[in-house]
Amino acid sequence: MAKDFYSKKILILDFGSQYTQLIARRVRETQVYCEIHPFNLRPERIRVFDPSGIILSGGPASIYDRGAPTADKSILGLGVPVLGICYGMQYMTHLLGGVVERARDREYGNAFLKIRDTGSLFHGFNRRREETVWMSHGDRIDKMPEGFKILASSKNSPISAMADVSRNLYGVQFHPEVAHTPKGTRILKNFLFRICGCEPLWTMRSFAERTIDDLRKKIGEERVICGISGGVDSTITAVLLHKAVGSRLTGIFVDNGLLRRGEAQEVMELFRDLYHVDIHKVNASELFLRKLRGVTDPEKKRKIIGREFIAVFEKKAKELGRAKYLAQGTLYPDVIESVSFKGPSATIKSHHNVGGLPEVMKLELIEPMRELFKDEGRQVGIELGLPREMVMRQPFPGPGLAVRILGEITSARLEILRDADAVLLDEIRRADLYEKVWQSFAVLLPVKTVGVMGDERTYENVIALRVVDSLDAMTADWTRVPYEILARISNRIINEVRGVNRVVYDISSKPPSTIEWE
Ligand code: XMP
Repeated sequence: MAKDFYSKKILILDFGSQYTQLIARRVRETQVYCEIHPFNLRPERIRVFDPSGIILSGGPASIYDRGAPTADKSILGLGVPVLGICYGMQYMTHLLGGVVERARDREYGNAFLKIRDTGSLFHGFNRRREETVWMSHGDRIDKMPEGFKILASSKNSPISAMADVSRNLYGVQFHPEVAHTPKGTRILKNFLFRICGCEPLWTMRSFAERTIDDLRKKIGEERVICGISGGVDSTITAVLLHKAVGSRLTGIFVDNGLLRRGEAQEVMELFRDLYHVDIHKVNASELFLRKLRGVTDPEKKRKIIGREFIAVFEKKAKELGRAKYLAQGTLYPDVIESVSFKGPSATIKSHHNVGGLPEVMKLELIEPMRELFKDEGRQVGIELGLPREMVMRQPFPGPGLAVRILGEITSARLEILRDADAVLLDEIRRADLYEKVWQSFAVLLPVKTVGVMGDERTYENVIALRVVDSLDAMTADWTRVPYEILARISNRIINEVRGVNRVVYDISSKPPSTIEWE
């Protein structure tokens, strides 16, 4: 059997840096499997994980702060190569008897690195060239621990990189994981392949094969239920399960009536007709509309939709008979969020999705995608042969169009928004922007404005267009969609969608605005 990607893997201990996820993504991009764990992971757990190398992330603290995060000292003596980045390097220095100098000022921005040693981390680099790297630190190393040598220096940080090759310990003051360090990946690759002996085994094909195999063994003769929403994550989860257990997978698709034009039909066509999944659609549009009648508060809308979804899903699942497992499309960033020592970040909007379902239904949870970043998940979809339009779908909120109709939701207003949104998406696709932007959608505002059509004065609805660029939805900027395309969208919406006489473009970034309007 081919070598498994779990046989050579990297452990990333998280000291709280905003870049920790980025380290993991960079490592995975080199096709090496890695996991992020909190800095204080117990030594027994580290031994069980059996890493080929350990990376200590950066972090916002100073090692002199009271309560500064500390890892178990034994990690430096396991014989496993360790790379400390920024705080990780300072922590290593402090543990091994070197001296960390307390910051007078922060160094933040580009720095130019002079390579002094072209072995180990800087194998293949040129001593005569300066390398641009990204620094973001307060404290810095004043005196290295015994046995260490300087590998590279910059003007402000004479010890920008150091190593004790005999003990396999390495530290860098700068951030190789960020795009502002152009050769950062080469440095990481030197660590992963030359120093840790990793091999590029982490591919989405190998992941899919192993996962399907594992799911088959785990599920055995039992039955699994999977909620299917039409989103990328639940779709890929369902297809993985279908490949693993075939007809023992039951899909439930709750049509809450808050989907975009044609979406419910597309979901059914994909699963029922293309994959022959045993999928059951519950048409709950009327129920949701009834429960939402008169509700204008965004959080109330979300709560109602979350609650009704669980109720409808549970009822259908009961009808369909006993299952042991419930599958969900949880992705790695959600997993990291919940194990990170910072704790889950404050909930600004309560995202319902299917949270709460497993407890209510007393089913065992299966999350085949919980190790994957979003782009890795998409790649799995491609490996599984899913249609590209499906795999590259933009994110769509669980509460659907309900949070894009400001004010009360009625079937007439849903129709207006669906029509306007369909025009916008059509033009965005034609302009080849659909996959380039993070999200593009229409919003129906709760105001009417005066217009003139022919000789008639009109008093009708306003549609706002929202198109944003983002990497992870945490921050976003409005997309500079060319004027001609905006003009075409506006013309078409006003001409084709009855009840709309004005279109505006949202030019707010996140923060302080959010991507959705509610
Ligand atoms: P905001 O509006 O908070 O959105 O900037 C960030 C991302 O989350 C999506 N979003 C939601 N997803 N349930 C979801 O499943 C929700 O209630 C919800 N609200 C926002 C939004 O589309 C964007 O991708």
